[in-house]
Formats: sequence, C-alpha cells, structure tokens
Amino acid sequence: FLIGYQNFVENPGTKLPIGVFDSGIGGISVLAEIIKALPCEEFVYFADTLHSPYGTKPEDVVRSLSIKVAEFLALMGIKSLVIACNTATSVAISEIRRKYPFPVIGMEPALKPAVELGLIGKILVMATPLTLKSKKFNVQVQYYKHRAEIVPLPCEGLVEIIEHDHSGGREIREYLAQVFSPANTRDISAIVLGCTHYVLIKKEIADIVGSKVVIVDGNCGTARHLRTMLQNERLLNTALAEKLHVPLKAQVRFYVSGIEGEVMITKCKQLLQNEGIV
Ligand code: DGL
Repeated sequence: FLIGYQNFVENPGTKLPIGVFDSGIGGISVLAEIIKALPCEEFVYFADTLHSPYGTKPEDVVRSLSIKVAEFLALMGIKSLVIACNTATSVAISEIRRKYPFPVIGMEPALKPAVELGLIGKILVMATPLTLKSKKFNVQVQYYKHRAEIVPLPCEGLVEIIEHDHSGGREIREYLAQVFSPANTRDISAIVLGCTHYVLIKKEIADIVGSKVVIVDGNCGTARHLRTMLQNERLLNTALAEKLHVPLKAQVRFYVSGIEGEVMITKCKQLLQNEGIV
C-alpha cells in the first residue's frame, strides 16, 4: 500500500524563495527570464547599490562584497542562489558554493552559444574590466580561441550610466557611439553581452551595430539551467498551476543597500513590467 509513498513527500525546501543578486538593476534582466521559466516560484532580489559598480573594483573587494550579500540572502532562508552578475560570479562563485549546501548558479559571458553560431567574423565580448581580467574568463577564451577570434571590450563607466538611465537616453547613445565606431564594427559577427546591465540596453546596442550583428546574452540559458537544477534536486515549487497569471505575477521581495532604496525598487518593478511581469 505504501509503495511509492516517498514520491509524494514534498521536500520542505520547495516552498522557500530563490535568492537573486547583482550590484544593481542589471540582475533584473535575468530575474525576468527566470520568472517566465519558473512562474510558481518566489524570489528575494538584492541590489548592492551602495557598492555599485563592482566591475572596476579590486577582485578581493568584489569577492568579499559578494560573499556578504550571499550571507544576507542565505540567512533569510533560500533554496537556491542565482548570482545574476558576471563580475561577482567570475571572482566569488567558488567560495560561495563551498559555503552553502543549496545550489548556486552564476553567470558568465555566453561565449559557447556565440561560437556555436559558426559565423565568420570577430566575436566581441562586452563586459566589465574585472570580468575580462578574471581567470575564469581567460580560461573560457583559451578554450574557444581556436574556433573564433574573440575580442574583449571592457566597458568602464557603462554600468553607472545604465543605473541612472536604463531607457536609452542621450548618455547611453553617446557612450555606444564612441565604443562602436564604424572602423571597429566592420568585422564583427556577434556581440556577447557579458554583463547583465548591458542586456537592459540591447536595443540601443542593436541600433548602433546594425541588424547583421547577432547579439547574444546568457539570461535564458541561466533560467533554463536553474529550472533543471531545481528539478534534479527536487526543489521545484509544486504549487498548483492556478497561481499562474497572464500577465505573469512577480512574487518578489526586494532589498537594496544604500540610501535610494525606494527609487531603486520602483525602477526594478518598472523593468519587470516592461517584460510583461506585474
Ligand atoms: N551586472 C554586473 C555584471 O553582470 C555589473 C557589474 C558592475 O557592477 O560593474 O557584471
């Protein structure tokens, strides 16, 4: 009679939220994809605005900031952690994984899908200076360099501009016009957005480089990876499908370091709404 009973005993962890963090609003571009893939889950989002940007700080500083944020989220009780920041992942994921029993998922510039497009021309990787300097990224480049010409493009200062204006304002357009002069866009086949902030200005980048250049980011891949991981660990929230709403309902609690918390939370909600998530 009791054969198979185990299958129906729900892991108590399934009801816990998933922690997601970034240095600011960039991780919202990832969170939006995760909510679309996992609409029955609850989330806690932390924006470390007080210490933003991460990408121009020394490696050990970013590592200890990231560990502190992970600690904060772990103390709240989470079943999994998504480091929705390439920079924090590149320097801190191993240490965070060692500290916690729950699955920790990070982000890295999506070189694999870009190389696998098999296009002729350079692959430009836009990311923060720290991500591009990191050992993790350079190991990735070594791995793919025989299949494509990979050109790192450190975008110092861009995260700060996006934090203040993510809706394609003048400053963003001027910055991009400077980076993508006609001369250096000539032989590009693809651009990898190796910073979650840059995904928020994908349209502006596409406008400047033209429709022939393919723009790749790792957000959907991360959301799929998280879903598989939770499935394998039997941590998916098995809440009934009636929780599904169209448009999708965000079950997110926001936390922000720094003084402009309310402004930031409004921005984050606005960005989710732009993705059809209310
Ligand atoms: N969104 C972060 C990333 O993916 C930005 C890092 C920063 O604050 O400089 O790298």
